[in-house]
Amino acid sequence: MAVTEQDIMKALTAIEDPDLHRDIVALGFVQTPEILGDVVNVRIVLTTPACPVRETIERDARELLLALPGVREANVTMDATVAQHRVSERTPVNGVRHLIAIASNKGGVGKSTVSANLAVALASLGARVGLLDADITGPNLPTMMGIGQGSQVEAGGLRVDERHGVKVCSIGFVLPRGTPVVWRGPMIGTAVRQLLHDVDWGELDYLLIDLPPGTSDASMSMSMEAPISGAVIVSTPQDIALEDAAKAVGMFDKLNVPIFGVIENMSYFVCPHCNEQTEIFGHGGARAAAEDLGLEFLGELPLDPATRKAADEGTPIVVLAPESAQAQAFIEVAKKVAARCSVLEYAAAVSA
Ligand SMILES: Nc1ncnc2c1ncn2[C@@H]1O[C@H](COP(=O)(O)OP(=O)(O)OP(=O)(O)O)[C@@H](O)[C@H]1O
Ligand SMILES: [Mg+2]
Repeated sequence: MAVTEQDIMKALTAIEDPDLHRDIVALGFVQTPEILGDVVNVRIVLTTPACPVRETIERDARELLLALPGVREANVTMDATVAQHRVSERTPVNGVRHLIAIASNKGGVGKSTVSANLAVALASLGARVGLLDADITGPNLPTMMGIGQGSQVEAGGLRVDERHGVKVCSIGFVLPRGTPVVWRGPMIGTAVRQLLHDVDWGELDYLLIDLPPGTSDASMSMSMEAPISGAVIVSTPQDIALEDAAKAVGMFDKLNVPIFGVIENMSYFVCPHCNEQTEIFGHGGARAAAEDLGLEFLGELPLDPATRKAADEGTPIVVLAPESAQAQAFIEVAKKVAARCSVLEYAAAVSA
């Protein structure tokens, strides 16, 4: 008996998207199957190339299809389209599906390191990614992405530069190295608008925004000048840093920016000699704080000398050593962040 399209679709309803809590057929992920005798070709289009369960869905789909009577061969092709259904009063950034802000109230907790690594992680998973350095007075991303401060001083205008598969833009590109710049509030607002709306980002699935610490002019302008899909709060496990995380949460709440969750950075130290794990700042504090604040905990990242060195030398650890445990930790967090965007989109599409 020949297999039908109906049999195929019915079988695939057994697969549920763990973030959207519905089956992949109802979600419209399964394209019309191709049936060539006893060979079935199915294409599944997910909402992000960084889907945390992509491999599981692919494997389960193949197994379910092969279990159908009349199917000898099943080919499953995985694809992804990042959609954008939300409407906002804030001006969208041309071509960009999702803006994701990386924030903390406290300085030096690793926002820039996390932004750079999440960006390259999403790109390595197949997404089109940009990285915007919103730290106007102390831009670090040119160095961390290996582009260098002042690389566009002669260029007569700010533009994106592509490195490690990510489109990057920073005021640091047009500031000569070592020149102190005194910014006044209105100038910061102008710089932020320029970075968001005047720079040609092209088509992007995700634009990650590395914010300066605290509720600075740049952070406020960024949140008001464009529809940010969600903010990711970076914190170290210390109590003081966690108090600060709560302040950052307060700012985004006031500005009506959704918060995707909290990342604990410098969570623990793994001794490179004996592999012993030491919890320098305590451990698990950010997870507990996230729960207290009713936010999702997006994962923990180790305090790791190689991560710092890689950042200083301009090649994020996710690019330098993608198979390492540290890089894998970043990749897991990146998938969770992408999943938050998909959930938001789904909610918008359903209510539209
Ligand atoms: N997980 C980590 N392991 C080791 N070093 C780290 C880690 N995360 C960040 N660092 C280091 O800590 C320092 C501060 O990090 P980073 O510049 O990313 O923080 P930040 O929050 O962006 O700081 P600022 O508030 O000044 O913008 C850097 O030297 C960076 O290399
Ligand atoms: Mg920074």
